Amino acid sequence: MVAMSDTVTLTIDGKSVELPLITGSEGERAIDIGKLRATTGLVTIDAGFKNTASTLSGITFLDGEKGILRYRGYPIEQLAEKSTFVEASYLVLYGELPTKEQLANFRERLTMHSLLHEDMKHFFDGFPAKGHPMGILAAMIGSLSAYYPDSLDPDSDTDLHIARLMSKVSTIAAFGYKRSIGQPFMYPKNSLDYGENFFRMMFGVPSEDYEPDPLAVAALNALLILHIDHEQNCSTSTVRLVGSSDASIYASVSAGISALWGPLHGGANQAVMNMLREIRDSGGDYRGFMEQVKDKSSGRRLMGFGHRVYKSYDPRAKILKTMADKVLPKMGASDPLLDIAQELEQIALKDSYFVERNLYPNVDFYSGITYRALGIPENMFTVMFSLGRLPGWMAQWREMNQDPRHVIGRPRQIYTGAGERNYVPVGDRKGK
Ligand code: CMC
Repeated sequence: MVAMSDTVTLTIDGKSVELPLITGSEGERAIDIGKLRATTGLVTIDAGFKNTASTLSGITFLDGEKGILRYRGYPIEQLAEKSTFVEASYLVLYGELPTKEQLANFRERLTMHSLLHEDMKHFFDGFPAKGHPMGILAAMIGSLSAYYPDSLDPDSDTDLHIARLMSKVSTIAAFGYKRSIGQPFMYPKNSLDYGENFFRMMFGVPSEDYEPDPLAVAALNALLILHIDHEQNCSTSTVRLVGSSDASIYASVSAGISALWGPLHGGANQAVMNMLREIRDSGGDYRGFMEQVKDKSSGRRLMGFGHRVYKSYDPRAKILKTMADKVLPKMGASDPLLDIAQELEQIALKDSYFVERNLYPNVDFYSGITYRALGIPENMFTVMFSLGRLPGWMAQWREMNQDPRHVIGRPRQIYTGAGERNYVPVGDRKGK
């Protein structure tokens, strides 16, 4: 629900223009500057889009001051506790919790599409065995558009592409892992649910039965739900921007995977583990480490801390912290790095540098510890983030694609380069 009743008046060079005010369903307000350039010749500038809403969206609500996150109106805490990844994905994608029948149909669609085209298996031979799984995942997902050329038509069956992507991504992720450790691929098994299947494809071997630990499956389920969507973050904005040119959903998601990889975004979960190990190897020199991350010239940051939108505790981190504290011991998993993370968190939360800047743990601070307990290798942590975020990327792509008003994304700039000058032949140029 969007209200567009009020206006604001902007006065520039003695001339006034009325700009519409837009109010979202949770009371957030925005000035619509869409006609500003046409009426005044001015554009706005906002590095990193810190103050710019790029779209209207009915998918996720996030209040960074209050630490609220809801998918389609449902609080993340309830979904993480009570829902399943497949059900919550349906909710995010299609707007409502599914009926029994809708859920069964959705599950069946996912099952039907979980196999990879056999030719695609050969791709894995072309990557170095120790190549980073995020590079492999982005390439494999991008290449799906070559196998499904119908996706090049923006009006093709989006729901079919969604089902294909959602089930194939976990197969691709697990195949990549198997190849990196020199084991045979484990094909998906139809009778298993999403999490069980993923664990079996990752850790099963053809010669033996494999039964995943139900606690591990439950933990994975909650982890994936926590990552499903997070409004217009870097990777989601990338998916929308690529998709706005009518590029296929496979190409758009592949670009999103690349955007997620960076350590300031989803790659932070792997970077957190490196940081915790570094503190351990220094014999617990927390003070020295904190001095470094507060010193801007060091180029270092406290990984897993801070967020563009949250200025209070990230609700996803809260859930993960509880999970790390309570669930992992039940699984018989104790991790000295968890103790270091908890100690580091306490120190940072009392440090005036972090207090003044409202820097709190984000989702990546405790997710790595949990993935480790599930036996996921560290270089696959951001792949796990991708599996979780995929339904969100696709929901955002679908929302944009279905909006008849959507236009290609194309920001303006303020040029700061040289003025016009004449070409000089190479022999006449001065300097070395
Ligand atoms: N360690 C040290 N200082 C920090 C940190 C940090 N983790 N995060 C922010 N700051 C400082 C920053 O230097 C700046 O200080 P000052 O005002 O003196 O210049 C101030 O806090 C505001 O930071 P910012 O860079 O303007 O904030 P941002 O909104 O542009 O950046 C961020 C957000 C997530 C990139 C940043 O907090 C960061 O680099 N965190 C570490 C990486 C990380 O954990 N990323 C995962 C984010 S959550 C998962 C996801 O969705 O991507």
